[in-house]
Amino acid sequence: MISMGYKTAGGKPFEIPGPDHDHVFISSDKHLEEVRKAARDELSMFGATKQMFQPQYTMLGHNWLDERGAEGVGYIRACGTLFTRQLFNLMPDIERLVDEEFRRVTQQPEYTSGSVKIVQGYDLLRRIICTVNGFCFFGDELANNEKFMSKIFTYNQVVIQAAEVLRLLPEFMKSIVGPIVSRTSEIQSFIFETLNEVVARRMEDRRLRETGEISAPAPSDMIEWIIETAPTHLGWTSRRVTYEIIAIWFGSVHALSATATYALFDLCEHPEYIEPLRKEVTGPAYDEFIATTKGLPLLDSFIKESSRLSPIESMAGRRQALKDFVFSDGTTVKKGDWTCVPTKAMQYDDAYFPSADSFEGFRFAPQDKVPRDSPSTVLQSEPSRYSDISDNYYVWGIGGIVCPGRFYASIATKSVLAYILKNFDCSLENQNTPRTFTWRSYSFPRQDARVKFTAR
Ligand code: HEM
Repeated sequence: MISMGYKTAGGKPFEIPGPDHDHVFISSDKHLEEVRKAARDELSMFGATKQMFQPQYTMLGHNWLDERGAEGVGYIRACGTLFTRQLFNLMPDIERLVDEEFRRVTQQPEYTSGSVKIVQGYDLLRRIICTVNGFCFFGDELANNEKFMSKIFTYNQVVIQAAEVLRLLPEFMKSIVGPIVSRTSEIQSFIFETLNEVVARRMEDRRLRETGEISAPAPSDMIEWIIETAPTHLGWTSRRVTYEIIAIWFGSVHALSATATYALFDLCEHPEYIEPLRKEVTGPAYDEFIATTKGLPLLDSFIKESSRLSPIESMAGRRQALKDFVFSDGTTVKKGDWTCVPTKAMQYDDAYFPSADSFEGFRFAPQDKVPRDSPSTVLQSEPSRYSDISDNYYVWGIGGIVCPGRFYASIATKSVLAYILKNFDCSLENQNTPRTFTWRSYSFPRQDARVKFTAR
């Protein structure tokens, strides 16, 4: 529906109604610029996110303000600077955790027969990403708490399902059904209380460290970075910090595991890329990647191409109008409606990506890194990296607001694929099983798409 609207509109804005609000899709540079420049009380990312995830019911009553920045944006520094800086030290742990979790899942007897393992690809990737994220977010203490990690793994699914039910209900029904969803969800309470206990202790330790009463260095994980970057003038409590961590956890783990799964599916569907990619990850470029977090240009391009053709959502840059918003050409987004960008349709547009329908795994790589006998025949005019904010590729946002977790996301995805390339040949168990489940504007990898891993 969005793709058809995009094709018919020929670059002009178009509208698509929805059950809970209407959408005004924009794609021209001028409209995008006006969204980027809109005041924070006009167009709101937080307003749209709240509508999507219904946090007042799915996050134990937490309800952040519509205006982004009203409570500071310390989380951007936490995810984009402090976390990214720490990645240099985390590389060996990420490598180890990918290996351990892969082995743990695939050692289940139902999955293994000799050197062949057949596993639900999405489940495997969700578990690996949950484990790696758990270590980076919560440090050793909670990452090693099996009950906590198993509940938080389930939590992501609960939020999506509950939010999708709630957002389709009229307001008066939400107030009846919402409390049932949140109260019956023992998972939410357990996660919040367990995490909150650690956060409260960490906040106290921080105070004691400042007064010199303890000298041990602070841990380096998301809990600590969010405490460090919390707005001091607002005097956040441990519960408020806990909500912030959970919100970032949720956004990061879902997007990352779905994107990595599609990259795995593409590896299975395009075996002609295995040899050049394997050569890259078994050569010196891999050691450089572990030492510097940079490099692996062919794998980087492959992942970017996969996410171009299989984005997890058809739209990007959702902004809810907090009051009627009028673009300079008169296009109006009524209060409560959203403006957004038809990103999937644009990523399939030949005007931006030559041979846009074709999977060209190395199209984004620098020309001098692409092997002579490359399976890709098409290159973009300029090379770019997966974590770059590039024109007409809005996987990380439309500018103005962009994903601060993209450097980690890129490293985590490369680490998982490099591990698989080094150790296994892989293929889809059944080439005819559809790989995507589409619900509204979301695309989820299908649970029943199973991947066959054969040890090398
Ligand atoms: C492949 C994985 C990921 C994808 C595709 C993705 C995508 C996005 C997008 C599109 C936005 C901008 C939203 C908008 O403009 O409406 C965003 C924002 C954000 N992402 Fe990600 N993300 C990913 C992983 C992560 C990870 C791993 C983290 C944390 C470690 C993270 C943290 C955030 C935060 C905190 C924001 C809000 C930024 C702000 O308010 O300025 N994301 N992400």
